[in-house]
Amino acid sequence: MKIINMKWFASAAVLGAALLSGCDIPPQETVQRGYRGTGMEAVYSPEVLADIVAANQVPEAIPAVSSDGPKAGDIYQNVEVLGHLSVGEFTRLMAAITEWVSPEQGCNYCHVAGEGFEADTLYTKKVSRVMIAMTQNANENWGAHVGGAGVTCYTCHRGNNVPEYVWTIGVPPRHASGMVHQMQNVAHQESNAYASLPFDPFTRYLLEDNAARVAGDTALPTGHESTIESTEYVYSLMMHYSDALGVNCTHCHNSRAFAAWDQSNSERVKAWHGQQMVKEMNNAYINPTNAWLPAYRQGPLGDAQKVNCATCHQGAYQPLLGANMLADYPNLSRLAPAQEPAAAMEETTEMESASLDNGSTSGEAH
Ligand code: HEC
Ligand code: HEC
Ligand code: HEC
Ligand code: HEC
Repeated sequence: MKIINMKWFASAAVLGAALLSGCDIPPQETVQRGYRGTGMEAVYSPEVLADIVAANQVPEAIPAVSSDGPKAGDIYQNVEVLGHLSVGEFTRLMAAITEWVSPEQGCNYCHVAGEGFEADTLYTKKVSRVMIAMTQNANENWGAHVGGAGVTCYTCHRGNNVPEYVWTIGVPPRHASGMVHQMQNVAHQESNAYASLPFDPFTRYLLEDNAARVAGDTALPTGHESTIESTEYVYSLMMHYSDALGVNCTHCHNSRAFAAWDQSNSERVKAWHGQQMVKEMNNAYINPTNAWLPAYRQGPLGDAQKVNCATCHQGAYQPLLGANMLADYPNLSRLAPAQEPAAAMEETTEMESASLDNGSTSGEAH
């Protein structure tokens, strides 16, 4: 079995981002992505693309093993989310998880040496159980967003104990694409905190249940209630979408009518599903782990580090440029048979179920 050095990938990503900032050396290539004459096109610099490709390589898969034989649930003592795997599959997945999340610390990042593997002594093991359920749930129930490539721990972690791009309430995070930005409304821009501009769109749209809708649907402002502030909030979120995916607004919108779904690209509908998925991840899975987290893993307001679009995408229009790692780890594609979504932490926290009916992907609701 070959253990790949994840740090190399992580540093390649950082290096790629550093190289990206500030330089877009001509010649660039333009690809038309929408109606002619609407400016719905993507501009690529071949040099930048090469860096993105280098930063999004996938580690070699551990050779597959048989799903026959005794189940982990029959042999092991404390398996809630992987009990339906064969013992061989279970062991392979433990090895993969170690490679993806704690390549330097090894098994002992979640298990105490000399103690039985069944003990839940370390918070990292308890968090991992929730993470496994969160990943299985994304693959089973959010096909409208991740279907195709799917999600593994590596999509977010990439060899890091905590993913590189996370957010907590009220703190400026790092930018994913390394693009040069206007300062105004860049999500979580520190300078915005000193101005009247919103700098935390994540709490409002990726944690609380709000739809990012501000445009009026009449020519004159008759009874239209959106404030300038809420418009700035939406713009701030949109800057994050663009930055996280390394795309511009027209990847999703026709800029002559930002609100109109029937004039938008299908990617916008995908993004909408992504928004609902991220909300569920943060409320139903990440927030409950906060009960176990040490203070150094919490934000200044005592909350857990959360998921946004950059956590998976990391500057690429599809995470890992669409590589399907899940195909090599089908055990992460479904929740354990007896499990309801988010059941793994029911004992710990009363789950706030994410309501997903806050908008429609069809044309009528804005
Ligand atoms: C990132 C955290 C993490 C790492 C690293 C990790 N494990 Fe685990 N391990 C878990 C979790 C979570 C469970 C419980 C799974 C469940 O509830 O279905 C578990 C359960 C187990 C069990 C079942 C014990 C029992 O009787 O219940 C064994 C055996 C095991 N791990 C072995 C290993 C080995 C060997 C390694 C290193 C190759 C390893 N683990 C690395 C998180 C981890
Ligand atoms: C959608 C992104 C995402 C995926 C997929 C994901 N994680 Fe995480 N992980 C996070 C975030 C965000 C945190 C920080 C919040 C927390 O600790 O609860 C985290 C924290 C952790 C921690 C705590 C590490 C520490 O040092 O505090 C462990 C362990 C972990 N994840 C394991 C896993 C495992 C194992 C998988 C795959 C089964 C996985 N994660 C999949 C986003 C993800
Ligand atoms: C990855 C896709 C994506 C990108 C890139 C993107 N948007 Fe959006 N945009 C959306 C989605 C999805 C919504 C609807 C969100 C909702 O309903 O909660 C939206 C909503 C909006 C709205 C509100 C429309 C209404 O109904 O009131 C405006 C305005 C907007 N975007 C502008 C922009 C601008 C400006 C940019 C570039 C800085 C941008 N968007 C980039 C996907 C995207
Ligand atoms: C859990 C990981 C994860 C998170 C978090 C995530 N995405 Fe994605 N996204 C994916 C995967 C995987 C794909 C590729 C699916 C496929 O193969 O079709 C994707 C694809 C997309 C696409 C289609 C891109 C294209 O051109 O094909 C858009 C748009 C998108 N995501 C927007 C978003 C937005 C906006 C957010 C934040 C609200 C977000 N995503 C959060 C995993 C994620």
